[in-house]
Amino acid sequence: GRFTVAVLVGSLRTGSYTRKIARALIGLAPVNLNCNIVEFADLPLYTEDSDGFPPEAWTRFRSEIRDADAVLIVTPEYNRSVPGGLKNAIDVGSRPPFESVWNGLPAAVVSASPSKVGGFGANHHIRQSLVFLNMPVMQQPEAYLPEVAAMFDDQDRLKSPEARDFLAKVMSSFTDWVMLVHGARSRAGA
Ligand code: FNR
Repeated sequence: GRFTVAVLVGSLRTGSYTRKIARALIGLAPVNLNCNIVEFADLPLYTEDSDGFPPEAWTRFRSEIRDADAVLIVTPEYNRSVPGGLKNAIDVGSRPPFESVWNGLPAAVVSASPSKVGGFGANHHIRQSLVFLNMPVMQQPEAYLPEVAAMFDDQDRLKSPEARDFLAKVMSSFTDWVMLVHGARSRAGA
């Protein structure tokens, strides 16, 4: 079968390296993954006060995630943790109580940084939330991408074949993971 993947990009910056990596990952995805970036820059900060009358952007975001079979998170690290906009999007999708759009969706996390440490802190902090949200998160290969400013040429193509091979491996492993989770679920009759 074919699986729809919601791709969340943790940076809102014009010229974001993380978004370039997300685009590269999407380009390297096997044909049975249909990957689309789901934007969240317009989501008002989550507050329970608005659960009764949710902002239109929250409703739009929740419905885009509901349409997905899996979630791929590609994120930079802010202050050794998850960028606030991405955390807000996770929070918006998790509410109201018992209506979380994340429940059961297989996921993968790719972190990136221009520094030599590839966003390990952000990668594992977001995993903590995904565990709570009952999302089976791919464990291998781990993807902490360092020195991402040097990864692309002036046309946003990956410079090194090794980087390309690694990102392709991440996407093929993620496809296996999504198929495993959804396959196990259909065998269980769920
Ligand atoms: C950063 N940056 C950063 N990098 C890192 O490796 N670990 C960190 O903890 C932080 N902390 C941090 C906090 C804030 C508020 C900003 C704005 C930046 C640097 C960050 O990796 C760099 O700006 C990247 O270029 C951000 O990714 P994009 O926007 O290029 O995708």
